[in-house]
Amino acid sequence: MKPRHFDSTWKRSSYCGQIPAPEGDGPAVVLNGWLRRRRDLGGIIFLELWDHTGVVQVVFNPELGCIYERAKSLRNEYVLAIRGQVRERPEGTENPSMPTGDREVVAEDFLLLSPARPLPFEISEADRVDENLRLRSRYLDLRRPSMQRNLRIRSEVTTFTRAFLTGEGFVEVETPMLTKSTPEGARDYLVPARVTPGRFFALPQSPQIFKQILMIGGLDRYFQIVRCFRDEDLRADRQPEFTQIDLEMSFITEEEIITLMERHMMGLFERIMKVSLETPFPRITWRDAVNRFGSDKPDLRIRSEILDLDGVFEGCSFDAFRKAVEGGGTARGLHLPGGASLSRRELADLEVRAKELGANGLAPFSLKEGALKGPLVKFLSAEEQKSLIMASRLNEGDALVVAAGPWRETCEVLGHIRLELGGRVYPVKEGEWAFLWVTDFPLLEWDDEGSRWTAVHHPFTSPNLDDLDLLSEDPGKVRSRAYDLVLNGTEVGGGSIRIHDPAVQQRMFEVMSFTPERTRERFGFLLDALASGTPPHGGIALGLDRLVMLLCGVHSIRDVIAFPKTQKAQCLMSGAPSEVDPGQLSDLHIALDLSGGDDECASGGAE
Ligand code: AMO
Repeated sequence: MKPRHFDSTWKRSSYCGQIPAPEGDGPAVVLNGWLRRRRDLGGIIFLELWDHTGVVQVVFNPELGCIYERAKSLRNEYVLAIRGQVRERPEGTENPSMPTGDREVVAEDFLLLSPARPLPFEISEADRVDENLRLRSRYLDLRRPSMQRNLRIRSEVTTFTRAFLTGEGFVEVETPMLTKSTPEGARDYLVPARVTPGRFFALPQSPQIFKQILMIGGLDRYFQIVRCFRDEDLRADRQPEFTQIDLEMSFITEEEIITLMERHMMGLFERIMKVSLETPFPRITWRDAVNRFGSDKPDLRIRSEILDLDGVFEGCSFDAFRKAVEGGGTARGLHLPGGASLSRRELADLEVRAKELGANGLAPFSLKEGALKGPLVKFLSAEEQKSLIMASRLNEGDALVVAAGPWRETCEVLGHIRLELGGRVYPVKEGEWAFLWVTDFPLLEWDDEGSRWTAVHHPFTSPNLDDLDLLSEDPGKVRSRAYDLVLNGTEVGGGSIRIHDPAVQQRMFEVMSFTPERTRERFGFLLDALASGTPPHGGIALGLDRLVMLLCGVHSIRDVIAFPKTQKAQCLMSGAPSEVDPGQLSDLHIALDLSGGDDECASGGAE
């Protein structure tokens, strides 16, 4: 017999998950897909054939002779083309858990298109398999229904976004990947430039400078769905290469960007989640966010706020609290509804956690049988006890934990405890979408290590114009015109109105202790551009991976990226990064010195 190949006669007439309803003995179909499972019942063979639309059952009867015999040797994940007739499943054999469970295909012939080696894991069991094993064979992992779904949602998000922004008058422009470093706070990935020995390109941490120059170039409204590269410590929501929905607009104020993004989110959630979002999203200043939630990205689904207890502890006889308050710090509390039932052990664990987070301690109080309990109660007068109960709105059976110390650190410790107790103490409603704008971030923060001021966002963010004078007098007090978009406690986007006055930009570099030579060398082209007719402008970048992660209801952006890296920034499938040929290095004029190298890099856990 002539060898048979995949030709148009074997091309699918229907996807597996969409086979037409049976009508008598038919219709005839050709299916293409992967063999998910074979059951040989010694007289009849059942195959489950899979493609991205679902699974269908195929029956091989012994009357098929040698075709039936050949079907006996098929293994999981073999790629097949199968020809047959659709029919209703015999009564009593329907499978209501399968969308195609009321029908099956009676095979007439099949073509083995591609065999599969013995697999490191079964696709149907992959949910329980170690992530590193899955990442090593990502091609198999991608055949899981959840990965298929996540990548398709991602594609819907980018398709929607392109249409939305184009409809709003934005132009999609690509900016260089081989470029000069843009300071976004991480280390750069460098690429040696062969033809200019000793020089390096940096892969962009973001297209920040280029998008601003596009505004100077008169593009008016730019967007790009763009890969960014940052060599920083990785976490579940951080990858070394990730994607931004990046945009910039000219002649605008904060208001226009914020409302544009709200319309974008409304449309996206309507389309993908079938949810109608309420706008405007709440807004909160950075100071309030830290004060009330101990975080610059508060999860508003957790209905609990940090309490200011300075008034209660100001003159109290418990030294640590009084001194903290009187010395310019603060005493703050976190109300735990029903928390009186937490065991001593659980409360002790909370204190250990608070100390790990940098607090001096964490004092528990509870209200039982109308009386305030806790190791520190004896230091409080009856009046102080009463005012603590009032200030923290304690009800019978509730608990309160109190920390005291410097303002930001104390709020942040309680903010972490608030999150960690999260769903346990304050039940979070399924399907709730808590959007929030955080505004008025500080422009600069002091970097102890480098002994200098650094930009909280990036150095191109405009100071609040009311605070311009403080730039020289008290840089830490200057508020910026930056805004972050937060969803369910994740920072999904950040942007700002930019500095468009070259003198202010120059001033900003000076405050950040850049010498004139270094400013010229790194940013001279930007300063020249700014001095060439710059419209007021601003923009934002959304983290596409994080947004899709939240839409898909998964906890790691690795689950929404086709080929993600591990926590050690490695691709377990391809083995990148890898050693290169010595010849390649010498072409690049590079000599290696691995004396300070880190051997641990040889292994790489996903998280
Ligand atoms: P920013 O640095 O805040 O701003 O980044 C914007 C958004 O990108 C996402 N993001 C990341 N996602 C995954 N892995 C990472 N390592 C990672 N780092 C950032 C976050 C973040 O909110 N040029 C500015 C934007 C602007 O000012 O317009 C910028 O890049 O969701």
